[in-house]
Parts: sequence; structure tokens; C-alpha cells
Amino acid sequence: MRRPIVAGNWKMNGLSASIAELDLVMKGYVPALAARVDLLICPPFTLIEEFAAAAAGSKVMIGAQDCHPKPSGAHTGDISAEMLADSGAEAVIVGHSERRADHGESDDLVRAKTEAAFRAGLIAVVCVGETLGEREGGQALSVVARQLKGSVPDGADAERLIIAYEPVWAIGTGKTPTASDVAEIHGGIRRELSARFGEQAGQAFRILYGGSVKAENAKTLLQTPDVDGALVGGASLKASDFLGIASAYAGI
Ligand code: PGA
Repeated sequence: MRRPIVAGNWKMNGLSASIAELDLVMKGYVPALAARVDLLICPPFTLIEEFAAAAAGSKVMIGAQDCHPKPSGAHTGDISAEMLADSGAEAVIVGHSERRADHGESDDLVRAKTEAAFRAGLIAVVCVGETLGEREGGQALSVVARQLKGSVPDGADAERLIIAYEPVWAIGTGKTPTASDVAEIHGGIRRELSARFGEQAGQAFRILYGGSVKAENAKTLLQTPDVDGALVGGASLKASDFLGIASAYAGI
């Protein structure tokens, strides 16, 4: 009942020539794959308009990696959710751990950005995840629950909100949690969402795993209870790797 989604976070990578990779993703998104899994690609701001135009008519969605909470104003260098929607984006990642760490983003700010995404009609992909120290200290679940509570606004629903669990220590490191660790955290996220939004609504939210997902580990990591897809960084930059993950996950 929850439709799986594999999302690519290109981070600060990609120039105009990278549209060739998007073309390859669209070509490889064959009906058998499209029947089983949604695809979302989040390139840097500079490529959103071009990618969205190229992807129009295909089923590949284009999204952004961040937005400002306000719709417009004196915020030099920032981009609003309304601007993203105007450029053709359908989704935006908020609260990625790199933004939380590099830009000191708090849960309150992430919640405001999520509200901005909803206001602009975008799907928000809200990221949560513990550091290595927090995991080793046995706090993984409590940290994730706290981030979730603070980052998800009231009134969120499964149409507009996707959660991505990304353990910070697994991002770009090649290290991954065990499938049972993933199941434990995803189960905890589902319980929190169900407690807050009601059992039926809680069951409908898609919860993605992110952190060193590759075609080789996609099946083990993602075919776990309460995992509804992946948020992929490094392996989303090449169409063949990205499609390999989606195909392995979909079992085709
Ligand atoms: P990675 O990044 O797949 O390169 O580990 C995931 C992410 O940061 O979203």
C-alpha cells in the first residue's frame, strides 16, 4: 500500500552536461520498474529548472536539496520553496545531516522549512539520523525520535511528507547498519508517527533509509519491515548505479 521511492541526492555535484545522466535514468525507467518504484532526483539548484523541463512527461520527479522557510525577502543567496516550485521542483529534502552540521540547522528551522515546502505544494523529505557517538551511547532511537518530533510539523500527511532515516556515520563512508538495526529505527519512527498522527495515517508515511546504499546492499537494507525506499547520495550520480539500486530493490 505504501509505494516505494528511490531518491537521489546529488549534493554539490553536477554541471549542465549532467543532464545526460538524467536522460539515461529516464530511458532506464522502464515500465516494469515504474510499476514498482517512484524515482526522485534532487540535483543542485542550478540544474532544477533544466532537469524539471527535461523530465516533464516522464515519471521521474525532480526535487531540491534545501529551501528557506520564508516565501521571499532579504535573504541573500537563499532560495524559497515557492521558487523551487516555480522552477518545476516537486519535492525538497530538508534537514539533511550535512546541513544540520555545516549550517547549524536546528529541528525548529527544519520544521519551518518543512512547513514552507507544504505551503509551496512540495513534498518534503525530512532527514533524521544519529551520529556514531550517539549510536555507541545507545541513544540512536531517542535522538531520531527527538529530531522527528521537532522537525515534523503538525498537520503533516503522507501525501506531502517523507521521512529519511540517515545515520550520520553511514553517509558516504561505505558503512551501513545491519538490517535489524534499520528495522528497529524504522519501526520506532513508524510508532512515533502513528502515536502523533493516528494509526492509519502513521502507516501511510514512507520512511526511506539513506547512507551508503548501493546496488549490492539495496536488497538487504531495503527489504526490511517499514523501509519504503532509499535516499541515495554518491551512488545516485551515475544513472546505471541509481537504476541498479532501484532495480535490485524492486527485485527486477
Ligand atoms: P551516500 O549519501 O549514499 O553517499 O552515503 C546519502 C545521503 O547523504 O543522502
